[in-house]
Order: sequence, then C-alpha cells, then structure tokens
Amino acid sequence: MTKEHSELVKEHFEMKYNDYDKLIQNLIPKYTEMHNLVVELVDFPKENKLSILDLGVGTGQTALSLLQKFPNAILDGIDISPKMIEQAKIRLKNFLNRITFSEQDIKDLQISRSYDACVAVLSIHHLNEKQKPELFRKIFDNLNENGVFAIGDIIKFDSEKVTKEKEEEWRNFLIKNLGEKEGQYWFENYQEEDLPSSVSNQLEWLRQAGFKEVKCIWEHMNYAVFFGRK
Ligand SMILES: C[S@@+](CC[C@H](N)C(=O)[O-])C[C@H]1O[C@@H](n2cnc3c(N)ncnc32)[C@H](O)[C@@H]1O
Repeated sequence: MTKEHSELVKEHFEMKYNDYDKLIQNLIPKYTEMHNLVVELVDFPKENKLSILDLGVGTGQTALSLLQKFPNAILDGIDISPKMIEQAKIRLKNFLNRITFSEQDIKDLQISRSYDACVAVLSIHHLNEKQKPELFRKIFDNLNENGVFAIGDIIKFDSEKVTKEKEEEWRNFLIKNLGEKEGQYWFENYQEEDLPSSVSNQLEWLRQAGFKEVKCIWEHMNYAVFFGRK
C-alpha cells in the first residue's frame, strides 16, 4: 500500500460512510457475531487493569464492548480518519477518562507502551502482504506475556476458485440487503480497494512473529476471526 492508497482509504471512509453504524450491518455478514467473538477472545479476568490497543477503532463499536467488559481497563484507539474518531468520541462519551485516541496509519504504527491485548476488526485488510507481517511483529513485540492479538476481518482463500465462490456469496448478500445498484457498488469498491489475505497466511505470519498459540475460531462467508497469544 502506498501513501496514496492509505489516503484513498481514508477519503473513502470519510465520504462514503455517512451512516456507518447502520450501513456496516448491511455490508458485513454477522457483523455483531464477529465483534462479539473478538471481544470474547480478550479472555482476562474482568477486574484486571488491562491496557488494550484497538487498531482501526472506527466509530468505537469494539472499544465500547471492551470498556464495558473490563471496567478497570484503559484503551488506545488508533484510526487514520479524524472523522471516524469524532464519531467514536460521541459513542464513548461516558468512557473518555479511560480512552486515548491517536490519528495514525497502522502501516507506520508508532507504539509507546506495552499492552495486554490488541484487537483489530475490519482494519488489517487495508494493509498489503508485506505490511501485515510487519504489523504482526510490532504487535508481538509490544504485547505483555500471555497477551492476545484478536482479529476479525474479511479474508480470501488459498484457492482462487473458493475465493471467487465466497465473494459471489457475499456479493449476493450485499445485493439482497442494499439492492442491485448499491450492492454492486460496494462489491466493486471492495475489488478496487481492499487487500484481504487468507487465514492460513495470516496464521503463519502470527507464528513467524512469535505468537505461540495461534488459531482461527470462526469463518463465515469471506470473513473470519482468528488470534495469536504471546
Ligand atoms: C470498516 S472500519 C472498522 C471500524 C471498527 N473496527 C469496526 O469494526 O466497526 C475500518 C476502520 O479502519 C480505519 N482504517 C483504514 N485504513 C487504516 C489505516 N491504514 N490505518 C489506520 N486506520 C485505518 C478506517 O478509517 C475505519 O475507521
């Protein structure tokens, strides 16, 4: 991904997602289930004073669940888009004493502390196949022992044929929810802009980064939830 690509993604998030929280439910199959699974993977005792990093915090959906689940946790939310951060601040207005926002591109992520958990829902696929393993190493290096890195994202498959079949299933889901024109628009937007990787490649990059427990816990259509534990 070039700088221009990151900028393009940012502009698109700011221009196209007028009502992000409503739209995303129509774009992502089992969006809530995927989120809940990522939050479940952060499986520490509820009273722990956790430090959590949220990559691509967006409008704060995952962050809200985590701050509610762990009343003593603090969370750093990273996003390239100031407009998405603005919306997260509204959703998280009751938690602002436990959350810090940082406008950053995760491909050049600067980390200044260690974390117990890192979550990334629907953000890693904006990085290419060189940037993803670099990010995984950076997260590993900055996680505490037993720290968890939980990812929910759009994926492709090792076989081109399966990728095409799953994408077609998803295209039909988009058209069913949004109608032919808008559904097709979002599918083409994905084809032009998104850079999904297969689960097997991503699990391998997690292993190479040093994670000892690495597993995919859920797949649905062309979406998956997987994690690594340090
Ligand atoms: C589809 S949204 C997901 C937001 C949130 N995690 C959720 O699940 O609702 C993707 C988010 O990632 C952000 N994003 C995209 N590319 C990024 C990058 N290179 N660095 C940081 N954030 C990025 C977008 O601005 C957007 O807020």
